Amino acid sequence: MVVTSEIQNKLEALHQKFSERGQDLGSYLDGLLHSEFLTYWDYIHQDTLLSLQTPRTIYPDENIFIIYHQITELYFKLCLQELDHICGGSKKEKWDSKKTVTKLKRINNYFRALVHSFGIMIEGMDKEQFLKFRMALLPASGFQSVQYRKIEIHATGLENLLHHSVRGEVEITKEEDINQNFDNIYWKFGATTKDTGEKTLTLKMFEERYDTELLGLLTKLKFCNLNHLLLEGYLSDGDEEIKRQLKTFDILVNVDWPLVHYKSAVRYLQSKEKDIAATGGTNWQDYLPPHFQKRIFFPTLWTQEEKDNWGKNWVESALGLK
Ligand code: HEM
Repeated sequence: MVVTSEIQNKLEALHQKFSERGQDLGSYLDGLLHSEFLTYWDYIHQDTLLSLQTPRTIYPDENIFIIYHQITELYFKLCLQELDHICGGSKKEKWDSKKTVTKLKRINNYFRALVHSFGIMIEGMDKEQFLKFRMALLPASGFQSVQYRKIEIHATGLENLLHHSVRGEVEITKEEDINQNFDNIYWKFGATTKDTGEKTLTLKMFEERYDTELLGLLTKLKFCNLNHLLLEGYLSDGDEEIKRQLKTFDILVNVDWPLVHYKSAVRYLQSKEKDIAATGGTNWQDYLPPHFQKRIFFPTLWTQEEKDNWGKNWVESALGLK
């Protein structure tokens, strides 16, 4: 075999790279000689991936439920990867608006995919089977998805995540304010028992597992969540496209996804006689609709009228009111 000058150059570059770290290139070439070729199934851990579904009942549709949740969590992971990059940027320089738009577009594409595919939940499972296997999963609920909460915390500050009854009434400027108001974060008002208003076990277990971590994240991102960057002018840079993407993100996460998700609750849990208890009899009917929660990541980007009507038309159509 002829060692071409191209290969020679690569060997020299490799020699340089390894010797800079005090390594002997020859030994690494030996390793290369003995190692296996990479396969697709090893690279994506196919066997492991396909072994991660462990239904708790005999009903085949439970697999659809598990896999679609797993797919959603993987998309959430991709969203967080982009959000981490944006929020981790250096404040001394202006944010690179082109890169930020690219990242926001990616996040919006992930959420669009989730919104469009939610029919897999709404129409894709047999209701009889769902109602049976769901009971074997108590008190677990998608409500306990910590990645969902982390996306919100990257997007905006605690002031916009407070329960709507106290939103706008407290100032959150210092770290102590975050600690003091954490119990007013909106999701602590979800997963409460409809009849007594008490926290469900679902919520208590989530708090035990994640409160400290989420409180830490709120504090860490106080001055670099997306809304803060927007308000401080780091994202504007005269670029309307960023605002357009932020608004799309707001709608996708706070109206479109909650709505398709809500539709699944209506399809499986609403009944003419008496709504079927969700995770231990929660207040899902009052809690889930986006119009009731009015979660808005970037309030300054919307008019008062738009905020007043947040998610309204959608809820009405989901409930068959229009
Ligand atoms: C048939 C499908 C589904 C039904 C019937 C359903 C039902 C519910 C209900 C009733 C709640 C309120 C809390 C509770 O009672 O547990 C809830 C919360 C939640 N679920 Fe689902 N869910 C479904 C699918 C999913 C999927 C695929 C995900 C993806 C991770 C998910 C994520 C969530 C999240 C993040 C919350 C909290 C929402 C918030 O705080 O606003 N759910 N779900």
